[in-house]
Amino acid sequence: MKGLILTGGKGTRLRPLTHTRAKQLIPIANKPNLFYVIDDLVAAGITDIGLIISPETGEEIRAACGDGGRWGARFTFIVQDAPRGLAHAVMTAEPFLGEEPFVMYLGDNLLSGGIGHLVEAFEASAPAALVLLTEVPNPQQFGVAEFDAAGNLVRLVEKPADPPSNLALVGVYLFTPAIHEATATLSPSGRGEYEITDAIQALIDSGHTVQARRTRGWWKDTGKPDDLLEANRLVLAEMAGRIDGDVVDSGLTGAVVVDAGARVVGSTIRGPVHIAAGAVIENATIGPFASIGENVEVTAATVEHSIVMTGSRLCRVPQPLVGCVIGEGVLVAGDTARADSLKLVLGDRSQVRWT
Ligand code: TTP
Repeated sequence: MKGLILTGGKGTRLRPLTHTRAKQLIPIANKPNLFYVIDDLVAAGITDIGLIISPETGEEIRAACGDGGRWGARFTFIVQDAPRGLAHAVMTAEPFLGEEPFVMYLGDNLLSGGIGHLVEAFEASAPAALVLLTEVPNPQQFGVAEFDAAGNLVRLVEKPADPPSNLALVGVYLFTPAIHEATATLSPSGRGEYEITDAIQALIDSGHTVQARRTRGWWKDTGKPDDLLEANRLVLAEMAGRIDGDVVDSGLTGAVVVDAGARVVGSTIRGPVHIAAGAVIENATIGPFASIGENVEVTAATVEHSIVMTGSRLCRVPQPLVGCVIGEGVLVAGDTARADSLKLVLGDRSQVRWT
């Protein structure tokens, strides 16, 4: 069985972060989202993995992943000329996939508990495709499944105005090569994309068996800033504590990771919190649910429920930073003598909010 990870797309909903970075590389608990996806595939025994990349962010993805050797896997990078839909990504990857069954996994999705049980179910009952579903409060924004009275999956609809159920498609799909016959019949949808839901519907309509399974734990699509924070919270909540760095005159509670080479001085750390190598935390309060990236400096500031990426500096910040996603090399610095004014140098589409 092969793997196909989708790392193309535009990531418009995550600007400005995605002006300079592939969204699949945004760190969740200090590890790129994409690496959790790779871990899941490899843990399920899938090591021959194709990665769909875009012309814009493909080089960054290649550089971050290497050839797969780090995971004991082999990566093949496949350029998709434009983000023309999930089914278009499958069509683009067809020469790589050949006649093998495969797992397609969206590179900005996170799933607790891995995919091993899905691969086992797929191999045991041999349907043409197996999709993963989860209950959502807002099915209008997803691909949604409809079942008949006997519990068979009969229809998939993309972003329905009148949803037939609250069961949405999660970004993990298992396919036999029959999917290639289905994608060959597609034309672009109303929004101009080759839809994977249409391809799966074509399988059902031509008499193939398509099975559905529910997610066992949580699932997250990290398409928007609040989703990143929620994914970060969920991953941190499952993390065990570990102190490899220096902790001096500080109070730590809950699950706290301090990587080797990080330093915590005179601070309060309320887990779950992940502090990466080279970070320096001084006279600060961190957590709960905060990820502090490599070489980040936090001095005289409070950071809660946030993601702070490599090399940023948060110094003498008068208000608590809560629910923040801070990119790389950012400076947030206050002057305690004059805490009533703000001096901002913000790039295009930056966001500053009072909550
Ligand atoms: P989406 O989140 O649906 O699309 P996007 O990345 O363009 O984001 P936005 O809507 O904010 O502009 O894509 C889901 C995943 O699939 C994501 O990891 C990108 C990837 N993808 C491709 O690789 N090729 C494609 O043609 C599309 C549509 C998505």
